[in-house]
Amino acid sequence: MAPVSDLVWSVGRLTRDDRWETLGTRGATVWFTGLSGSGKSTLAAAVEERLVASGRPAYRLDGDNIRSGLNIDLGFSPEGREENVRRVAEVALLFADAGLIALAALISPYAKGRGRARALHEEAGIRFVEVYVATPISVCAQRDPKGLYARASTGEISSFTGLDHPYEPPTDPDLVVGHHLPLAEAVERVLEALGEAEAPQTH
Ligand code: ADX
Repeated sequence: MAPVSDLVWSVGRLTRDDRWETLGTRGATVWFTGLSGSGKSTLAAAVEERLVASGRPAYRLDGDNIRSGLNIDLGFSPEGREENVRRVAEVALLFADAGLIALAALISPYAKGRGRARALHEEAGIRFVEVYVATPISVCAQRDPKGLYARASTGEISSFTGLDHPYEPPTDPDLVVGHHLPLAEAVERVLEALGEAEAPQTH
């Protein structure tokens, strides 16, 4: 790995504002965190559909999908999850800089990693909206859409988030989505939070 001090950032011929203005877009990252089965992916997909339908470029960075490609080399140890979150935060930042609304849907169990993702965006002057999909583990385990809670409870899968691996709930998220909230309303709340996120920025 080259030391960062040996690298020189390549500056383009247009600024982020030029790009966003010319393309008629504004980038941002929405970061959905919550347990497996909490509904992060469902909500992110519905938000993506709404944004794109209204002509706003948006793209999901979903844990399961990213782990099937870019992060195929990572497991579920604390280090694997930390690196997973770090890489997705970097990719989300690039997407947002390009002018997309990046929709990251990852368990992202550690407050520290989520804090780093936010700091990375804030340092770059890109808005970051943290959405806590606060579905209790009892509900997630009952839904068990992928059958993973059942497999974790028999010991077939270890280090499962919420069972034998920790989940640190956000203490100060931009939005909390409870599991009783209908999907359409949850989408509206996210779009509202994003509306705030699109307020004029200073770079
Ligand atoms: S994270 O902890 O690194 O943020 P991420 O969101 O990318 O996790 O991936 C979680 C998905 O991987 C879950 O939705 C589930 O489908 C699958 N998975 C497989 N093993 C585990 C495990 N031990 N803990 C949690 N999720 C797991």
